[in-house]
Amino acid sequence: MQAATAGEKMDAIYRRQRHIYDATRRYYLLGRDRLIASLKPPAGGAVLEIGCGTARNLIQAAKRYPDARFFGLDISEAMLTSARTAVSRHGLRARIVLGQGDATAFQPAALFGRDGFERIYISYSLSMIPVWEDAVRHAMAQLAPGGELHIVDFGDFARYPALLRRAQLAWLRRFSVVPIPGMQEKIAALAEKAGLSVAAESLYGGYSIQMCLRR
Ligand SMILES: C[S@@+](CC[C@H](N)C(=O)[O-])C[C@H]1O[C@@H](n2cnc3c(N)ncnc32)[C@H](O)[C@@H]1O
Repeated sequence: MQAATAGEKMDAIYRRQRHIYDATRRYYLLGRDRLIASLKPPAGGAVLEIGCGTARNLIQAAKRYPDARFFGLDISEAMLTSARTAVSRHGLRARIVLGQGDATAFQPAALFGRDGFERIYISYSLSMIPVWEDAVRHAMAQLAPGGELHIVDFGDFARYPALLRRAQLAWLRRFSVVPIPGMQEKIAALAEKAGLSVAAESLYGGYSIQMCLRR
């Protein structure tokens, strides 16, 4: 039997989950609104979310920054089905363009008719991508000059009691989520190698890490 592709794996996880995704994730994907508040794209700027899921973040961001254009990429057709419905429901079809592709290999010119983005962000998706370093490198390569890559994802739960930390990690594994050990240092090293500046913050006692890489 052939191994499932990354897209098939995400479709299997989200085919049913997508219907309760926004209602449930608001309680534990912490820091997403903080990331959106920090984006501050220039007027007319293009903003791409990699691993956009149901488009919850794109819709919030498009409302907050009415002068920017938005693009969303996801590998899961199931998630994109929910995203398209939500974007239409909010009357944002003219401002949010969605496309299917892999974070490690997508071609923005073919998918979105663009060569670069003023802002790119990745929210709680790197921890679901086994080759996440390739996704970060590919995202950095799509930044326009002066552009920024914002990232939020699970941290190391450093200030949590050991039992709670283990329970949290086991629960996340049920959803194929594997927090990246040493994420902050590893991403900073990738950014520095590519000549980007780095700012990072650990939030909520190590629950999340938020980073901004600037070209
Ligand atoms: C936990 S959800 C996060 C969704 C959204 N960013 C949010 O903050 O609510 C992770 C998303 O990453 C997508 N994803 C996983 N692997 C991917 C890959 N290799 N390329 C693109 N998207 C991917 C999944 O399909 C899913 O929609």
